[in-house]
Amino acid sequence: DVRRKIVAGNWKMHKNVDEAVELAEDIVSDTNGTLNEVVVFPPFTALESVAEAIDGKHVGYGAQDLHWEDEGAYTGAVSGKMIADICAEYVLIGHSERRTMFGDNEVAVAKKMRAAYRNGLKPMLCVGENAQERAEGKTSRKISMQLKSALKGITPDEAEVLVVAYEPLWAIGSGQAATAKDAQEVCLLIRNKLEKLFSADIARKVRVLYGGSVNAKNAADFAISGIDGVLVGGASLDAQAFSAIARSI
Ligand code: G3H
Repeated sequence: DVRRKIVAGNWKMHKNVDEAVELAEDIVSDTNGTLNEVVVFPPFTALESVAEAIDGKHVGYGAQDLHWEDEGAYTGAVSGKMIADICAEYVLIGHSERRTMFGDNEVAVAKKMRAAYRNGLKPMLCVGENAQERAEGKTSRKISMQLKSALKGITPDEAEVLVVAYEPLWAIGSGQAATAKDAQEVCLLIRNKLEKLFSADIARKVRVLYGGSVNAKNAADFAISGIDGVLVGGASLDAQAFSAIARSI
C-alpha cells in the first residue's frame, strides 16, 4: 500500500504540562515497533514540552488549531509560524468543535489551510455531516462542499501531504461510532472528490482517516480498505487504550 496508516490522538482541552509529557512518553514506549504513523495533538500550553520530550522519537506531534495570519494583533491566537517554530509537523484544521463552537466557517478554514502550507505544516483537515444532514441524505453534498472550499487554491504538491479526517458530528464523543461500512463509504467518497479536485495520483496518496468514538474495542473494525487510520479523541487520553488502537489499525 502506498499509504502509511496514521493513528492520531486529539487531546482537546485536557492535560496539564506534566500529565501531557507523561502521556506522550507512555505513548512513545507503548507504540514502539508499530509500522503506523502515530501523532499526538496536545493543548497549546503543553505542546512545546511534549515536543521536547518526544523530539526525534517515532511519535509526531501537532497543534489543534492555528490562526490564518502569521502575526499581528489577534489576542489569544497562535499562528502557524509559531507552531512551525517548535517543529510541529501537523495541524488540525476545521475540527467540528472549532466550526460549531468557535465560528470557524468555510472562509476561515480555507484561510487556515493556506496558513498551514505557507508555514510548512501538514494540515489534517476535518470534515463531516451532522445528524440532520445524514438523515436528509445530504452527507455527500456537505462533504464535497467542505472539501472544495477548504482546498481552493491548494497546489498538487501541497495536496500530496494533506490528511483528511472524516468525522461525522453525531459520532464525536457520543460513544456511537459510525459503522465501518458507513465510514468506508464516505472515505471513498472523499477520495473520489480529491481525484476530481486534483488527480488520481494525488487521490491515491492522501490519507483519509475516520474519527468519532473510536476506542480500543472497535478500532480494528476500521482497519479496512479505503480508511487509512483513525483520529481519536477521548480514548487518546489513555496511553494504553491509544496504543492498543495504534496496534489494531
Ligand atoms: O478529533 C477527534 C474526534 O473529535 C473524536 O473524538 O474519539 O472522543 O469521539 P472522540
